[in-house]
Amino acid sequence: MKAIVITEYGGPDVLKVKDLPTPEISGDEVLIEVKAAGLNRSDVFQREGNYPAPKGASAEIPGLELAGTVVKCGPDVKDFTVGDKVCALLAGGGYAEYVGVREGQCLPIPGDLSFAEAASLPETVFTVWSNVFERGNLKSGETLLIHGGNSGIGITGIQIAHALGSKVIITVGSDEKGQNCLELGADSYINYKTQDFETELQDEGVDVILDMIGGDYLAKNINILNPEGRLVHINAVSGSRVDLDIWKVMTKRLTVTGSTLRSREYEFKKQLAKEIQKNVWPLIESGKFRTVIYKTFPFSEAAEAHRLLEDGSHTGKIILVR
Ligand SMILES: NC(=O)c1ccc[n+]([C@@H]2O[C@H](COP(=O)([O-])OP(=O)(O)OC[C@H]3O[C@@H](n4cnc5c(N)ncnc54)[C@H](OP(=O)(O)O)[C@@H]3O)[C@@H](O)[C@H]2O)c1
Repeated sequence: MKAIVITEYGGPDVLKVKDLPTPEISGDEVLIEVKAAGLNRSDVFQREGNYPAPKGASAEIPGLELAGTVVKCGPDVKDFTVGDKVCALLAGGGYAEYVGVREGQCLPIPGDLSFAEAASLPETVFTVWSNVFERGNLKSGETLLIHGGNSGIGITGIQIAHALGSKVIITVGSDEKGQNCLELGADSYINYKTQDFETELQDEGVDVILDMIGGDYLAKNINILNPEGRLVHINAVSGSRVDLDIWKVMTKRLTVTGSTLRSREYEFKKQLAKEIQKNVWPLIESGKFRTVIYKTFPFSEAAEAHRLLEDGSHTGKIILVR
């Protein structure tokens, strides 16, 4: 099969097409003929050598999510059959013609979504459901702040939280991106390049924060959280070593937490997939949550697709298709 591989760590041009053996499957794995694969920021970190693949995942082929057709089932597969159209969460390996993955990480494609639309879902939906709704325990009527509202994670978080009855405030790097997010259901935006989110939100307060920035955002996040508030970290691009005022955490009874999805065990992902099928797939089927595709590229143009992702001017997902 053909796959896009990281030939060495570096810029987008290190991504090249290579012939590799088609994966062998066994047990509860399905073999998927990949029709579309979603790009994520983590693919860039991996390509640069800053985000090693966890044990058992492809270090050579990037790609955390895909959509395609099941072409073969292992002897223990119960929920899927050959011909099923699925999307899947991966720990790597998605930029390929075929991928073998355990069935618990697959979901049927919801509604009448195309393969490209379905491939845009797994990584962000699994991350948002796990961190905002499970770890952060966001409830209807509460206020959620998402840093990086225009990110792939952000546009998913905005839509699900809005559909489930929360007020959603986001930080973004331009007014144009802010407007795009308002159209997706955000109630208001703060342009982090011209405004200070702590100043803007200190009177209003927020209940849950999804943060991928870290660094000096920590103290500000702590200051604007309401009593019993929850701060959930999914990255720390501005730095992970920070000063924390424990006294403020205690007096406001805050929860400071975070997680990484990619390295989690299979049983966790399988259970999360079930929760998503129950809670999020109906929002897609009823039109309350829509996929946002910015641009698609053929797999052979993965380097070009990475350049666009790094440029950062987009709102929505970038997808490789065949
Ligand atoms: N822990 C996990 O399990 C997990 C899973 C998936 C993703 N992630 C992380 O989540 C993040 C988003 O991933 P993605 O693929 O959706 O990324 P992405 O689409 O590339 O977006 C990155 C975002 O960061 C925003 N940003 C940069 N500096 C900022 C600042 N100072 N304040 C507020 N926002 C800022 C950018 O906002 P503007 O474009 O508006 O400037 C952009 O929207 C990444 O850091 C990724 O590693 C973590």
